[in-house]
Amino acid sequence: GYAGSGAPGARPQGVVMSGLARLEYRGYDSAGVAVVTGDPEHVGMRKKSGKLVNLEKELAERPIPAGTAAIGHTRWATHGAPTDANAHPHLAAGGRIAIIHNGIIENFAALRAELESDGVKFLSETDTEVAGHLLAREVLRGSSLADAMRAITRRLEGAFTLLAVDAHEPRAVVGARRNSPLVIGLGDGENFLGSDVVAFIEHTRTALELHQDEIVEITPDRVTITDSAGLVVDREPYHVDWDASAAQKGGFATFMEKEIHDQPTAVADTLRGRIDEKGRLQLDGGMIDEYVLKSIDKIIIVACGTASYAGLTARYAIEHWTRIPVEVELAHEFRYRDPIVSIKTLVVAVSQSGETMDTIMAVRHAQQQGATVIGVVNAQGSTIAREADAVLYTRAGPEIAVASTKAFLAQITAGYLLGIYLAELRGNKFPDEIEALLEQLDAIPAKVQRVLDASEPIRELARTMADERTVLFLGRHVGFPVALEGALKLKELAYIHAEGFAAGELKHGPIALVEEGQPVFIVLPSPRGRESLHSKVISNVQEVRARGARTFVIAEEGDTEADNYAEQVFYVPAAPVLMTPLLSVVPLQIFALELAAAKGYDVDQPRNLAKSVTVE
Ligand code: G6P
Repeated sequence: GYAGSGAPGARPQGVVMSGLARLEYRGYDSAGVAVVTGDPEHVGMRKKSGKLVNLEKELAERPIPAGTAAIGHTRWATHGAPTDANAHPHLAAGGRIAIIHNGIIENFAALRAELESDGVKFLSETDTEVAGHLLAREVLRGSSLADAMRAITRRLEGAFTLLAVDAHEPRAVVGARRNSPLVIGLGDGENFLGSDVVAFIEHTRTALELHQDEIVEITPDRVTITDSAGLVVDREPYHVDWDASAAQKGGFATFMEKEIHDQPTAVADTLRGRIDEKGRLQLDGGMIDEYVLKSIDKIIIVACGTASYAGLTARYAIEHWTRIPVEVELAHEFRYRDPIVSIKTLVVAVSQSGETMDTIMAVRHAQQQGATVIGVVNAQGSTIAREADAVLYTRAGPEIAVASTKAFLAQITAGYLLGIYLAELRGNKFPDEIEALLEQLDAIPAKVQRVLDASEPIRELARTMADERTVLFLGRHVGFPVALEGALKLKELAYIHAEGFAAGELKHGPIALVEEGQPVFIVLPSPRGRESLHSKVISNVQEVRARGARTFVIAEEGDTEADNYAEQVFYVPAAPVLMTPLLSVVPLQIFALELAAAKGYDVDQPRNLAKSVTVE
């Protein structure tokens, strides 16, 4: 949303379109804009199914006159197929009002029946249109747009960010949020609303949070936040320290490629400045009493997708260093199994966006049970960052490509920091051991860089494998989550069926899949770890090779034994065993990227996916 007249030539719709381009990663089934143009009865509106370029074309062919306020939306379909009609904005009050929505209105069927019996005609299948007509009813009864928005949010159940404009209030955009993100950007003679600061970061770095069930009205020169009772809320702005250029591709062909190359920085930034004068590790926000952390007897990591694999990886280190039992649970499964959570449980919610609805709900469930929650989050000011009792930010910067890469490495790093923090606090480690661990972590970014610099051989291999139907990944101990992540990347980016297995499980079933020519990637444990583990996985390589598999091994530099059994070995620098995933996953990310690119796929926006899934 935007209130202002735009830079000369840009106009409000131009500002909104460039914001949408930056947000398109959140969903891209269809897109639309609405502009208040000075016509007192109708807002100007264009919308199109498909990616943003379709809307750009439509606007070029049928431009909207310049105006004073605008809203825009890119959609990831929940209710109703991605058609032009179901795209947002939706009009109400005969075209006077336009509304956009992110989330799901759970009681929309009942509300729609009520409105239809009142004679309202619906033009789409969306839940959003219900909110538009409810809003129109209030406005036509004489309410201001802001009051009308407050009134209707009382009737809506579920999750929503709503933005609306009214041709009768040409300078204003009104927004509301419940369980979905909305951030306010403060400009000079212009103000912004967006699901993420990335939407307006090229215009302003000064932002304001909007809390649960608050209403915001922006005009070019004013921002007014009110609570659900209509009382004005005073809130301090914060400074967004993300670099605007960081949200651009920085010379790489795709965001994905750029973000893979950002990884040394992402790890280094996440580690930066964590030690205070007393030698104690620092969290970023919120407060948890030390005595609470000293008394916890269990850790549960909740997350989805790649973030859950970061959790699985961090578990090995946290358990080893702290001797506290750690469970890792997919956030959407967590609360439905009636988990055993108490005031002595620490729940760690790992999320790049901080807006994954499944993870938010797990956080709330944990808090209701009395658990302490730490968020490991990348997006500043996001819902999980706000609602958790404390935050440890992964400082990976904006991650635009849908499939996560640099956030994954940063999440693992943050998990290790948390483990070190707890080990220190609870006296599980001596200060010199803590110092040694931090030094080992500090050495990781340069090693990641070496993996990137030596990535040509795996790229070459990927380019020859575009016709593969299925690829298997094996790993053991910390290599197991790496195998899972390698398989997930290949599914997400290259649409190739892929499975990650614990190498020891192979003989219990999956080996039946292996036939002549089947590609199998094996993450080989370091020979400096438990010797038996290394040789057991070497045996697995031989077992699949004996059945005709093509074997590709990720191994530590200097470990030449695999050369005898593998078609090709990709070496990564040596590191302490628990930290090796930060290195061994990188060739697998590059493999998936390169293979998808060879197939001509859009690696930044794979089909059917969204960067931040804000529905359950
Ligand atoms: C979506 C994305 C994945 C991501 C997952 C968790 O499914 O497509 O790439 O790993 O959400 O996202 P989060 O923002 O919570 O880390």
